[in-house]
Amino acid sequence: MTATDTFIYRFVPVENSKRTLLVLHGTGGNEDDLLPVGRMLDPESALLSPRGKVLENGAPRFFRRLREGVFDEEDVIRRANELADFVAGAVKENGLNASQIVAIGYSNGANIASAMMLLRPEILRGAVLLRGQVPLVPEKVPDLAGKSVFLSSGKFDPIVDAENAGQLAEMLKKAGADVTHKLLPSGHELTRVDIDDAREWLSRLA
Ligand code: MLT
Repeated sequence: MTATDTFIYRFVPVENSKRTLLVLHGTGGNEDDLLPVGRMLDPESALLSPRGKVLENGAPRFFRRLREGVFDEEDVIRRANELADFVAGAVKENGLNASQIVAIGYSNGANIASAMMLLRPEILRGAVLLRGQVPLVPEKVPDLAGKSVFLSSGKFDPIVDAENAGQLAEMLKKAGADVTHKLLPSGHELTRVDIDDAREWLSRLA
């Protein structure tokens, strides 16, 4: 069994692509959900999209939570490492550029992406975190110099309060990441502005 056998996933190769977007769905989503978003954000990137393995009343997620907004930290750590190993395996199997993996995560997918950035920074060049919040406080501050993060939050988000999103931005900045944080006049749902801003940000990411 190889590392990529551990997840159900979609891989969409693109000939001569320089970058791979690691596409991570929200609670109740699956590996197909955000492929169109990934494609809109960058038509030239390969797409790697796993399905979260934790089931909450049948709804796939990337880690366990005790209730909304309260995460099982031990599980966050375990699952972030498992996902990092999966990505490293997919990079090897498909001959991808390991230094150009950029996560695109929505909600629970954004939270596992930032957990991976904090715990296994070697896996990611950067991350687009759509409606992300603090996934955990790592025991030791990682060195995120050279990493870039785009965080897009909703001012009226009933699931992620703006203060928590601000704390995530600060945590990543303090660790050395180059962070762009936008606060939009919206709720938890994605808007056209999220997509346009993220696409613009990605187009400038070398
Ligand atoms: C989470 O559990 O990761 C966040 O509350 C977002 C969600 O999936 O609802």
